[in-house]
Amino acid sequence: MPRQPMVVGNWKMNGTRAFAVQLTSAIRDGINASTLAGEVLLCPPFPYLELVHGLVQGTAIQIGGQNHADRQNGPCTGEVSASMLRDLGCRAVILGHSERRTLFHESDTLVADKADLALQAGLTPIVCLGETLQQRQEKETLTVIRHQLQPLLPHMANHPQPPDSWILAYEPVWAIGTGQNAQTEQIQEVHAFIRQLLQEEIGSTIASGWRILYGGSVTPGNAADIFSLPDVDGGLIGGASLKADSFLAIIAALSNHR
Ligand code: 13P
Repeated sequence: MPRQPMVVGNWKMNGTRAFAVQLTSAIRDGINASTLAGEVLLCPPFPYLELVHGLVQGTAIQIGGQNHADRQNGPCTGEVSASMLRDLGCRAVILGHSERRTLFHESDTLVADKADLALQAGLTPIVCLGETLQQRQEKETLTVIRHQLQPLLPHMANHPQPPDSWILAYEPVWAIGTGQNAQTEQIQEVHAFIRQLLQEEIGSTIASGWRILYGGSVTPGNAADIFSLPDVDGGLIGGASLKADSFLAIIAALSNHR
């Protein structure tokens, strides 16, 4: 079955209520439903999820969270659970973003445990992987990716149904928010490596159905080239998802997926 490409807007910790309304409405009204070539997911900050959901209900746009807690519920002041996200209408959740790994010291194991909770709650985990600049310069990229994937594998084996069970996102840390996207050869090399590893560990039919997104300085100028790579199934977009025109142009570039 061909993989349905997707574009995910990760708003990070940006915006206000008014901004969320304006941006969501502009994206919703700007999408050409008849030429839309994949899925679109908006991931606003927690407080705006319900608002954004209300604005996109009945359209092709879906919503997702940017993170959730590492336990189901209970005494965990300040946290938000996977089931709460599901309850608000989320279909997916971004987990293990490099900002969470760095700023909040999230380990590979913690990310894998969270992904399992996401699946139990009926959310698709979008798990981010990626190397730092130093790791790339020291030629450790594939080793780092393998390590980040390792604790996910047993969970993946338990939830093997594509296309919705798992989404991975390769986001080289040095390309996030820097304006310096990875080169297409670098992107394809890592994506093909991830898919091959999954095929070996989980099975070829299943792994070939899972989507692998690229993130890191995707713009309207480079999206078409990136989305046309054989193992890239769309993008996880930060800065450019905060401007309706840019995000709409990136969504339009999904038609280059093959
Ligand atoms: P930028 O698109 O701003 O580089 O951010 C990428 C990202 O971190 C998406 O999760």
